[in-house]
Amino acid sequence: MKIGSFTPSVPVVLAPMAGVTNAPFRTMCRRFAPGLVYVNEMVMATAVVHGNAKTEKMMTFTADEVPRSLQVYGSDPVMLGEAVRMLCGAGRVDHIDINFGCPAAKVTRKGGGAAVPAKPNLLRAILRSAIAAATPYGVPVTIKFRKGLYDSLLTHVTTGRIAAEEGVAAIALHARTAEQHYAGAADWSAIGELKAAVPEIPVLGNGDIWEASDAVAMMRETGCDGVVVGRGCLGRPWLFRDLVEALNGRPVPPSPSLGEACAVMAEHARLLAAHLGDDLAMRDFRKHTSWYLTGYPVGGEIRRQFSNVSTLGELDDLIAAVDPAHTLVAGGERIRRGHTNGPIKVALPHGYLDHLDDLVVPDDADVMALSGG
Ligand SMILES: Cc1cc2nc3c(=O)[nH]c(=O)nc-3n(C[C@H](O)[C@H](O)[C@H](O)COP(=O)(O)O)c2cc1C
Repeated sequence: MKIGSFTPSVPVVLAPMAGVTNAPFRTMCRRFAPGLVYVNEMVMATAVVHGNAKTEKMMTFTADEVPRSLQVYGSDPVMLGEAVRMLCGAGRVDHIDINFGCPAAKVTRKGGGAAVPAKPNLLRAILRSAIAAATPYGVPVTIKFRKGLYDSLLTHVTTGRIAAEEGVAAIALHARTAEQHYAGAADWSAIGELKAAVPEIPVLGNGDIWEASDAVAMMRETGCDGVVVGRGCLGRPWLFRDLVEALNGRPVPPSPSLGEACAVMAEHARLLAAHLGDDLAMRDFRKHTSWYLTGYPVGGEIRRQFSNVSTLGELDDLIAAVDPAHTLVAGGERIRRGHTNGPIKVALPHGYLDHLDDLVVPDDADVMALSGG
């Protein structure tokens, strides 16, 4: 599997996750497995074009990071094209991924995000604009999307076909509908169907890779060219090392002890503090503490204290108070973390599905911040 001129050591991509896959998170993952594709958290095309201090900060890559992969959200062909041109022209990225899977009501209500693939002409116009902007700079464009809005309106195959026709470098399918949100099992059969329909470009499967063996199974069952890993690596950046081992046919090391996991947690917190400043970082890090502790028998009270941590010193004290010899409970890797909710009621503009061939451009001018995909 290649993305542009970059060939990862194994065909594994870190899923873009808003509020999570920033530079410190990616650094932690890269320490366990250099040479993979680690995608930055999503930024909004409008914020890139108009300039926005928060977005600038979000687009931080470390000096040694290759490839610099960034996910952009935009449903207006002109705005997205301009954002891509600015990013590529300034030499800030090596790879752009576009998000067509965002189920947030705020955007689908206007016809953006996961609503776009229902309108093939709009999808094509957006891709054409982004690829025309990126191609002069040699930057590959990939897209990530869901199966469709609902089970009764599946669009993954048409989306994949249009992407291949327009020159998209690779496609990634989160094998759930927007309506499903994060509930239920991902439908890997849809990944196999997509690969069969779009043989000419790499197809990446996404959904429910919790352990390295899941990636091996997904590739075997679906014939996909690679995998995109989301929630399974939350609090478990060593999953990428496990994936390298498993995909090379080698045995996967046992999960770390609590002491080892806490050492990684402490290092991650320090990187985040250096990136965001102590106050903001420690508030943001609270969610990570709960992910790092998932599956270790530490008890509710200490878990609660971790989730209120406000300084690096406090974090160190809490770590000193846990038993480092604890091991993960059986099946602890598969305990769901991050988003788990669904199904949701998909919000769409009035009459949106009446004319699927139209080219009405969603208004995402005021969408400056979003979470999800
Ligand atoms: C906290 C969180 C934030 C997410 N943000 C994005 C995002 O910005 N863009 C995107 O395409 N997907 C986003 N997703 C979806 C993931 O990239 C992935 O498609 C989804 O979690 C399914 O994969 P998994 O089962 O491996 O987690 C997000 C998921 C989570 C849990």
